[in-house]
Amino acid sequence: MPRAAEIAAMKGSRKIVAVTSYDYPTASICGGAGADVLLVGDSAGMVVLGRRDTLGVTMGEMCIFTGAVARGSKGALVVSDMPFMSYQASVRDAVRNAGRLARAGAGAVKLEGADLAAIRAITAAGIPVMGHIGVQPQSAAFGGYAARGTDPGDADLLAGQARGIEEAGAFCIVLERVAGAAAARITGEVGIPTIGIGSGPGCDGQVLVIHDMLGLYPDMRPPFAKIYDDLGARAAGAVSRYAEEVRSGAFPAGEHTVG
Ligand code: KIV
Repeated sequence: MPRAAEIAAMKGSRKIVAVTSYDYPTASICGGAGADVLLVGDSAGMVVLGRRDTLGVTMGEMCIFTGAVARGSKGALVVSDMPFMSYQASVRDAVRNAGRLARAGAGAVKLEGADLAAIRAITAAGIPVMGHIGVQPQSAAFGGYAARGTDPGDADLLAGQARGIEEAGAFCIVLERVAGAAAARITGEVGIPTIGIGSGPGCDGQVLVIHDMLGLYPDMRPPFAKIYDDLGARAAGAVSRYAEEVRSGAFPAGEHTVG
Protein backbone atom coordinates (compact mmCIF):
# COMPACT_ATOMS: atom_id res chain seq x y z
CA MET A 1 0.00 0.00 0.00
CA PRO A 2 1.45 3.47 -0.79
CA ARG A 3 2.50 5.31 2.37
CA ALA A 4 -0.19 8.03 2.01
CA ALA A 5 -2.91 5.35 1.84
CA GLU A 6 -1.45 3.71 4.96
CA ILE A 7 -1.67 7.06 6.77
CA ALA A 8 -5.29 7.50 5.62
CA ALA A 9 -6.11 3.99 6.89
CA MET A 10 -4.95 4.94 10.41
CA LYS A 11 -8.15 6.97 10.96
CA GLY A 12 -10.06 5.45 13.83
CA SER A 13 -7.36 2.90 14.66
CA ARG A 14 -4.39 4.92 15.89
CA LYS A 15 -3.31 8.55 16.21
CA ILE A 16 -1.06 9.93 13.47
CA VAL A 17 2.23 11.52 14.54
CA ALA A 18 3.50 14.26 12.25
CA VAL A 19 6.36 16.71 12.77
CA THR A 20 8.06 19.18 10.46
CA SER A 21 11.58 18.51 9.16
CA TYR A 22 13.70 20.52 6.77
CA ASP A 23 17.08 18.78 6.69
CA TYR A 24 18.77 15.37 6.74
CA PRO A 25 19.81 15.16 10.43
CA THR A 26 16.41 16.28 11.74
CA ALA A 27 14.59 13.93 9.38
CA SER A 28 16.80 11.03 10.53
CA ILE A 29 16.04 11.83 14.17
CA CYS A 30 12.27 12.21 13.64
CA GLY A 31 11.93 9.24 11.26
CA GLY A 32 14.07 7.10 13.56
CA ALA A 33 11.96 8.13 16.57
CA GLY A 34 8.83 6.78 14.87
CA ALA A 35 7.06 9.82 13.36
CA ASP A 36 4.55 8.69 10.74
CA VAL A 37 4.74 11.88 8.65
CA LEU A 38 7.62 14.31 8.10
CA LEU A 39 6.15 17.58 6.89
CA VAL A 40 8.55 19.74 4.91
CA GLY A 41 6.60 22.87 5.81
CA ASP A 42 7.04 26.24 4.21
CA SER A 43 7.46 27.31 7.85
CA ALA A 44 11.11 26.69 6.81
CA GLY A 45 11.03 30.25 5.48
CA MET A 46 10.71 31.49 9.08
CA VAL A 47 12.31 28.87 11.34
CA VAL A 48 15.23 27.93 9.06
CA LEU A 49 15.75 30.96 6.82
CA GLY A 50 14.81 33.67 9.35
CA ARG A 51 12.22 35.47 7.19
CA ARG A 52 9.20 37.26 8.70
CA ASP A 53 6.62 35.02 7.00
CA THR A 54 6.31 32.09 4.60
CA LEU A 55 5.58 34.07 1.42
CA GLY A 56 9.13 34.26 0.09
CA VAL A 57 9.70 30.50 0.03
CA THR A 58 10.50 29.29 -3.48
CA MET A 59 10.04 25.98 -5.28
CA GLY A 60 13.83 25.69 -5.55
CA GLU A 61 14.20 25.99 -1.76
CA MET A 62 11.39 23.49 -1.14
CA CYS A 63 13.01 20.97 -3.51
CA ILE A 64 16.33 21.22 -1.64
CA PHE A 65 14.65 20.77 1.77
CA THR A 66 12.51 17.91 0.41
CA GLY A 67 15.47 15.99 -1.01
CA ALA A 68 17.38 16.28 2.28
CA VAL A 69 14.36 15.11 4.33
CA ALA A 70 13.60 12.23 1.95
CA ARG A 71 17.18 10.97 2.30
CA GLY A 72 16.81 10.87 6.11
CA SER A 73 13.15 9.88 6.44
CA LYS A 74 13.62 6.24 7.50
CA GLY A 75 10.29 5.14 6.06
CA ALA A 76 8.12 8.05 7.28
CA LEU A 77 5.86 9.65 4.66
CA VAL A 78 7.48 12.87 3.39
CA VAL A 79 4.85 15.55 2.69
CA SER A 80 6.07 18.79 1.12
CA ASP A 81 4.31 22.12 1.24
CA MET A 82 3.52 23.77 -2.05
CA PRO A 83 4.85 27.30 -1.49
CA PHE A 84 3.00 30.56 -2.09
CA MET A 85 2.09 31.07 -5.77
CA SER A 86 3.24 27.59 -6.81
CA TYR A 87 -0.41 26.48 -7.35
CA GLN A 88 -2.68 29.53 -7.02
CA ALA A 89 -2.29 30.88 -10.58
CA SER A 90 -3.34 27.79 -12.51
CA VAL A 91 -4.03 24.07 -12.25
CA ARG A 92 -1.21 23.52 -14.74
CA ASP A 93 1.27 25.23 -12.36
CA ALA A 94 -0.13 23.15 -9.51
CA VAL A 95 0.46 19.82 -11.25
CA ARG A 96 3.88 20.79 -12.59
CA ASN A 97 5.12 22.05 -9.21
CA ALA A 98 3.68 19.07 -7.33
CA GLY A 99 5.62 16.92 -9.81
CA ARG A 100 8.85 18.78 -9.01
CA LEU A 101 8.37 18.09 -5.30
CA ALA A 102 7.57 14.41 -5.98
CA ARG A 103 10.71 14.13 -8.10
CA ALA A 104 12.71 15.72 -5.25
CA GLY A 105 11.49 12.95 -2.92
CA ALA A 106 8.04 13.92 -1.57
CA GLY A 107 5.53 11.09 -1.15
CA ALA A 108 2.71 13.66 -1.02
CA VAL A 109 2.21 17.43 -1.20
CA LYS A 110 0.22 19.81 1.00
CA LEU A 111 -1.57 22.92 -0.16
CA GLU A 112 -3.42 25.57 1.80
CA GLY A 113 -7.09 26.33 1.25
CA ALA A 114 -10.00 24.67 -0.47
CA ASP A 115 -8.51 24.82 -3.98
CA LEU A 116 -10.51 21.83 -5.15
CA ALA A 117 -9.48 22.04 -8.83
CA ALA A 118 -5.79 21.89 -7.89
CA ILE A 119 -6.36 19.03 -5.42
CA ARG A 120 -8.30 17.05 -8.05
CA ALA A 121 -5.68 17.57 -10.76
CA ILE A 122 -2.65 16.75 -8.57
CA THR A 123 -4.38 13.63 -7.23
CA ALA A 124 -5.32 12.59 -10.78
CA ALA A 125 -1.63 12.94 -11.71
CA GLY A 126 -0.88 10.28 -9.07
CA ILE A 127 0.49 12.52 -6.30
CA PRO A 128 -1.35 12.27 -2.96
CA VAL A 129 -2.54 15.60 -1.53
CA MET A 130 -2.89 16.75 2.08
CA GLY A 131 -5.34 19.64 2.54
CA HIS A 132 -4.84 22.50 5.00
CA ILE A 133 -7.64 24.68 6.40
CA GLY A 134 -8.18 26.95 9.41
CA VAL A 135 -5.36 29.46 9.76
CA GLN A 136 -3.46 29.48 6.48
CA PRO A 137 -0.12 31.21 6.91
CA GLN A 138 0.22 31.99 3.17
CA SER A 139 -2.90 34.19 3.43
CA ALA A 140 -2.62 34.97 7.15
CA ALA A 141 0.40 37.05 6.23
CA PHE A 142 -2.13 39.49 4.71
CA GLY A 143 -4.83 39.12 7.33
CA GLY A 144 -3.76 37.69 10.69
CA TYR A 145 -3.43 34.48 12.64
CA ALA A 146 -6.73 34.61 14.57
CA ALA A 147 -8.21 31.25 15.57
CA ARG A 148 -10.88 29.79 13.29
CA GLY A 149 -14.11 27.92 13.92
CA THR A 150 -14.90 29.77 17.12
CA ASP A 151 -18.47 30.64 16.03
CA PRO A 152 -21.05 28.29 14.49
CA GLY A 153 -21.03 30.03 11.09
CA ASP A 154 -17.26 29.68 10.69
CA ALA A 155 -17.37 26.09 11.96
CA ASP A 156 -19.97 25.32 9.22
CA LEU A 157 -17.76 26.99 6.61
CA LEU A 158 -14.71 24.94 7.65
CA ALA A 159 -16.73 21.70 7.75
CA GLY A 160 -17.94 22.41 4.20
CA GLN A 161 -14.37 23.05 3.04
CA ALA A 162 -13.19 19.81 4.67
CA ARG A 163 -15.92 17.78 2.94
CA GLY A 164 -15.02 19.39 -0.41
CA ILE A 165 -11.31 18.63 0.08
CA GLU A 166 -12.14 14.99 0.87
CA GLU A 167 -14.40 14.76 -2.17
CA ALA A 168 -11.63 16.24 -4.37
CA GLY A 169 -9.40 13.29 -3.43
CA ALA A 170 -7.13 14.48 -0.58
CA PHE A 171 -5.94 11.70 1.76
CA CYS A 172 -5.72 13.85 4.88
CA ILE A 173 -6.35 17.44 6.11
CA VAL A 174 -4.39 19.70 8.45
CA LEU A 175 -6.58 21.81 10.75
CA GLU A 176 -4.53 24.78 11.95
CA ARG A 177 -5.72 26.74 14.99
CA VAL A 178 -9.34 25.57 14.67
CA ALA A 179 -11.40 25.70 17.88
CA GLY A 180 -11.34 22.28 19.55
CA ALA A 181 -15.10 21.67 19.26
CA ALA A 182 -15.15 22.55 15.55
CA ALA A 183 -12.06 20.39 14.89
CA ALA A 184 -13.70 17.41 16.63
CA ARG A 185 -16.88 17.96 14.63
CA ILE A 186 -14.98 18.11 11.30
CA THR A 187 -13.03 14.98 12.29
CA GLY A 188 -16.33 13.16 12.80
CA GLU A 189 -17.80 14.39 9.52
CA VAL A 190 -15.01 13.40 7.12
CA GLY A 191 -13.75 9.95 6.22
CA ILE A 192 -10.09 11.04 5.90
CA PRO A 193 -7.84 11.81 8.89
CA THR A 194 -7.49 15.29 10.32
CA ILE A 195 -4.12 16.39 11.68
CA GLY A 196 -4.37 19.21 14.19
CA ILE A 197 -2.01 22.00 15.13
CA GLY A 198 -3.44 24.00 18.01
CA SER A 199 -6.81 22.34 17.31
CA GLY A 200 -7.13 20.01 20.28
CA PRO A 201 -7.31 16.29 20.97
CA GLY A 202 -10.37 15.61 18.80
CA CYS A 203 -8.23 15.35 15.64
CA ASP A 204 -6.96 12.04 14.21
CA GLY A 205 -3.34 13.14 14.61
CA GLN A 206 -1.11 16.04 15.59
CA VAL A 207 1.66 18.02 13.92
CA LEU A 208 4.20 20.33 15.54
CA VAL A 209 6.92 22.49 14.05
CA ILE A 210 10.16 20.79 15.17
CA HIS A 211 11.80 24.14 16.04
CA ASP A 212 8.85 24.97 18.35
CA MET A 213 8.85 21.64 20.19
CA LEU A 214 12.64 21.71 20.68
CA GLY A 215 12.94 25.41 21.63
CA LEU A 216 15.00 26.23 18.55
CA TYR A 217 13.07 29.24 17.24
CA PRO A 218 13.63 32.22 19.53
CA ASP A 219 11.44 34.73 17.63
CA MET A 220 8.03 33.21 18.46
CA ARG A 221 6.76 30.45 20.74
CA PRO A 222 3.15 29.66 19.82
CA PRO A 223 1.15 28.97 23.01
CA PHE A 224 -0.24 25.69 21.62
CA ALA A 225 3.20 24.25 20.89
CA LYS A 226 4.43 22.17 23.82
CA ILE A 227 8.20 22.51 24.34
CA TYR A 228 9.55 18.98 24.83
CA ASP A 229 13.14 20.13 25.25
CA ASP A 230 14.93 23.48 25.20
CA LEU A 231 17.73 22.61 22.80
CA GLY A 232 18.24 26.29 21.95
CA ALA A 233 19.35 26.99 25.54
CA ARG A 234 21.40 23.78 25.69
CA ALA A 235 23.17 24.54 22.40
CA ALA A 236 23.97 28.10 23.55
CA GLY A 237 25.49 26.61 26.73
CA ALA A 238 27.63 24.19 24.69
CA VAL A 239 28.92 26.93 22.39
CA SER A 240 29.71 29.20 25.41
CA ARG A 241 31.74 26.37 27.00
CA TYR A 242 33.61 25.87 23.72
CA ALA A 243 34.33 29.63 23.48
CA GLU A 244 35.63 29.69 27.07
CA GLU A 245 37.87 26.67 26.44
CA VAL A 246 39.31 28.10 23.21
CA ARG A 247 40.05 31.39 24.98
CA SER A 248 41.57 29.67 28.03
CA GLY A 249 43.57 27.17 25.95
CA ALA A 250 41.74 24.16 27.46
CA PHE A 251 40.63 23.15 23.94
CA PRO A 252 42.11 21.52 21.94
CA ALA A 253 43.71 18.96 24.27
CA GLY A 254 46.20 16.33 23.15
CA GLU A 255 43.49 13.89 22.06
CA HIS A 256 41.97 16.51 19.73
CA THR A 257 45.28 17.14 17.98
CA VAL A 258 46.47 15.07 15.05
CA GLY A 259 49.83 13.28 14.92
O1 KIV B 1 4.49 25.03 7.20
C1 KIV B 1 4.19 24.32 8.17
O2 KIV B 1 5.01 23.98 9.03
C2 KIV B 1 2.79 23.90 8.30
C3 KIV B 1 2.36 23.34 9.62
C4 KIV B 1 2.25 24.43 10.61
C5 KIV B 1 1.11 22.57 9.51
O3 KIV B 1 2.04 24.05 7.39
